[in-house]
Parts: sequence; C-alpha cells; structure tokens
Amino acid sequence: MTAAIRDTATSHSVTERGHSKDGTVLPRLLPAGNHPMELAAHLQVHGEMHYRGGPRMLIHTIESAGLTGRGGAAFPTHRKLTAVADQKGVPVVVANGAEGEPASDKDKTLLWSSPHLVLDGLQLAAEAVGARKAHLYVHRNPRLVQRLQSALAERATAGLDRLEVHLVTAPPRFLAGEESALANRVQGGPALPRFTPPRVFERGVNGAPTLVQNVETLAQLALISRYGPAWFRSVGTEAEPGSMLTTVRLANGSGGVAEAAIGTPISHLLKLNEHPARAVLVGGYHGAWLTPEQASHLTLSNADLRPLGAAVGAGVLAALPADRCGLVESARVVQYLALESAGQCGPCLNGLPSIAATLEQLAERRSAPSARHDLKRWSTLVERRGACHHPDGTVRFLRSALAVFADEVVLHEAGRCSAGTDEPFLPIPAASPDHKDDWS
Ligand SMILES: Cc1cc2nc3c(=O)[nH]c(=O)nc-3n(C[C@H](O)[C@H](O)[C@H](O)COP(=O)(O)O)c2cc1C
Ligand code: SF4
Repeated sequence: MTAAIRDTATSHSVTERGHSKDGTVLPRLLPAGNHPMELAAHLQVHGEMHYRGGPRMLIHTIESAGLTGRGGAAFPTHRKLTAVADQKGVPVVVANGAEGEPASDKDKTLLWSSPHLVLDGLQLAAEAVGARKAHLYVHRNPRLVQRLQSALAERATAGLDRLEVHLVTAPPRFLAGEESALANRVQGGPALPRFTPPRVFERGVNGAPTLVQNVETLAQLALISRYGPAWFRSVGTEAEPGSMLTTVRLANGSGGVAEAAIGTPISHLLKLNEHPARAVLVGGYHGAWLTPEQASHLTLSNADLRPLGAAVGAGVLAALPADRCGLVESARVVQYLALESAGQCGPCLNGLPSIAATLEQLAERRSAPSARHDLKRWSTLVERRGACHHPDGTVRFLRSALAVFADEVVLHEAGRCSAGTDEPFLPIPAASPDHKDDWS
C-alpha cells in the first residue's frame, strides 16, 4: 500500500514515495517535491492532452477505469457524464473547488500545485458532455485565485483550451460547494442550496443541464485520458480503483495532504502506532467518529467504512489526541454546522440550533438529565427533512459522537471529564462580523 504526504502548512514535502503492485509511483496528482507545476513542466511530465474528437467518446474509458467522484459521494463519474450528455439542451460544466469543509485542504493543495491537470480535466469533461460553457468555482482565497488566473492566461497564450473558463469565487461557507448552491452562485446569485428537483444535471446554471465535478475528479479524469484505465486501476482495490487525496491530521498535531491508494490502512495514514489517538474522525464534519480499535482494522475504502455508517467522503482523516475530550470537540463542530446552515428549512431553523445548544451543555457538564434522550429524539426529527443533506450529515456526525464517546457522556452527566486539556484540535474557521449574510 502506498501513500505520499505533503505538509500544507509549511509547504514542506514529507513525501514518502511508494510503489504500487506494478511499480506505479504515488503521488500521481501532486508534483513530486515542493514545486507547483507550471504549464511547461506540466506538458513535459504529462504531455499534451488529447481531445477525443466529439462528445461521449471519453465516457467509455472513464467507465472502464471505474473513476468515482472525489467530492464526497463517490458517485460513478461515467454515469454522471452520461446523464448530462443525455439531456436536451446545451450543457454547462463546473469544476467544484469550493472545499467548504474546514478540515479539508486537498482541493486547494491540488489547485495550487497541479492547476493544469484540473483544467485539462475540465476541458475534456466539457467535450465528453458537449458543453459550451465551463466554469471553475474556487474558494475565495486571493492568492489561489490569482494563481489560477495566471494558469488560465498561460493556457490561453498556448492555445490549449477550446472553451474559455470563467472563474467564479465561492464564499467560505460549509454549504458553498453543495451543487445547487454552486449553481446559484455561478449564475450570479448567493451560494444557497435550493429545493430539488430538478437536480442540477437536469437544470442547473441558468436552467442548462450542468455537470458538476470535484476538481480532483477532473484531475483524475485528465490522467486516465492520458494513461488509460489499466494504469489507473494499478493502485486501489478492484471495487474502488485508483488513488485519492486525503487531508490527514495526526494525533501529534502534524499532518498535511496525502495521496493514498484506496485500500491503504487508516492506521498507516494516521501513524496510529506512533501517535495513539482517543478516536478517529473519517469523512469530515458530515462524517463519523470511529474508535481507535475500529480504525486500526479498517482501510481507506467505502467497502470497509460503510458497514459502520462511515464513508471516505472527501478524504478527511483526523486522529483526536488522547488528552482531548471527544464531546467538547464534537460540540464545537456541531455548533459550527448549525451556524453554517442556510436557515431556509425547519430542521436547520429549529432542530440544529437546539441540538447544538444541548450538546454544548453536555460538553460543558451542565446538561439537563434529559439531554441524551433529547439529542436522539431531535436527530430523528430533523433527518431527511431538509432541502439538502446538511441536517442528515450533521446528525450522522452527532450520532457517531454519542456512540464513540458514550463513556465520556456518562462522565459528563456526572459532572466530570477525562480530558487533560480543552485546547481545540479540529479546525473551525473564525467568523467575520458579516459572516452570517456572506453568501457570495
Ligand atoms: C453540504 C454539502 C457540501 C458540499 N461541498 C462540496 C465541496 O465543497 N466540494 C465538492 O467538490 N463537492 C461538495 N459537495 C458535493 C457536491 O454537491 C457534488 O456532489 C460534487 O461536487 C460532485 O462532484 P464529484 O462527483 O466529482 O464528487 C457537497 C455536498 C453537500 C451535501
Ligand atoms: S436543509 Fe438546511 S442547509 Fe439545507 S437548504 Fe434547508 S436550511 Fe439550507
């Protein structure tokens, strides 16, 4: 099993280059060493991209490769390409680099280090579905935006792109990358999810059928188009082929972005033998906590994680240090998620704030005797009642916290806590004064 780790905070590469069963080297997506890939280097390493000469022609290759979306849901990419290509009307394509999940850095790292792989993938996906408009939707980070503008200008000078790419910025909101929020923002509105159906693949940006793919999915597509399905499948598992970017947070506080073969043991990625953890969070803030014992037997794969109600999601893996309280950490995350809701539907207006307040009281050891019961009851009430999956993801996270930290719940109910420190571990963005209304 192979993994390559890059420390995003320092840009210091701690890459551990590994070989797969046929000698394929990881990382594939991120450049080896510390050097972001400019266009000349990109073309030298990967060669020019080849348009296929018409819509649909790439789709069979993507199906053979077994590529699935890297934005969270692991949906088969060829099925989405086909669904969009089958629609009446001229499609629009959007590369989703919003990365609203605070614990994830992989899309920003990819866009910074290998922008041309993403941009190649965007052009190829546009050709595959017959799109005439392409957008790159990215986190509102001025340095990143400037870098992408220069990458696009370089490509325009070289005459690589058939479609002009419009850069659209995403507000720093958890929901900004949800595809209906993205469609609203790309057509000039606020990044608010909207009630579905129709789904965006049917009617998205300005009513056109819209293909939304995560930026990593597009970069993988660009590699598959060059090197073929067998190359892609030479790492990963039969059911879940390829590599994926993960953002790892080790229990000693270090970490970064790691490209790992799907099927790599989680204990290897989080170095659990060296740095023991109190619990492991997989899949981010809509993901699930696992006990260290569970995590030590599992690999980075949905086949392993789904039976436990977890998923690889967008590849967030965090090992909670042994001296932290899982309830305190979970209460901060749920509070953040409740504040990030768009406040458009009942579960988010009423349910999530009550859940967040009660979990906070439990974390602070001042809860009412009914707290545990209330949390479970409200979770059932908000589930599947929102226009988007935000309440469901929040409830999944909460339920896993109550299960994995069950002993801690009992301690807190008795006014005690086993943690050595309440210093925060998981990242929660600081909100600016105008954050509440900042959706563009
Ligand atoms: C609350 C929520 C937030 C999401 N945020 C992102 C995001 O930041 N980036 C992303 O690529 N996908 C995000 N998604 C998934 C998108 O809706 C969409 O499924 C994805 O971009 C499709 O790309 P893929 O098939 O290549 O993964 C989010 C979904 C939900 C429900
Ligand atoms: S469920 Fe919540 S986050 Fe989703 S659209 Fe409704 S109010 Fe917004």
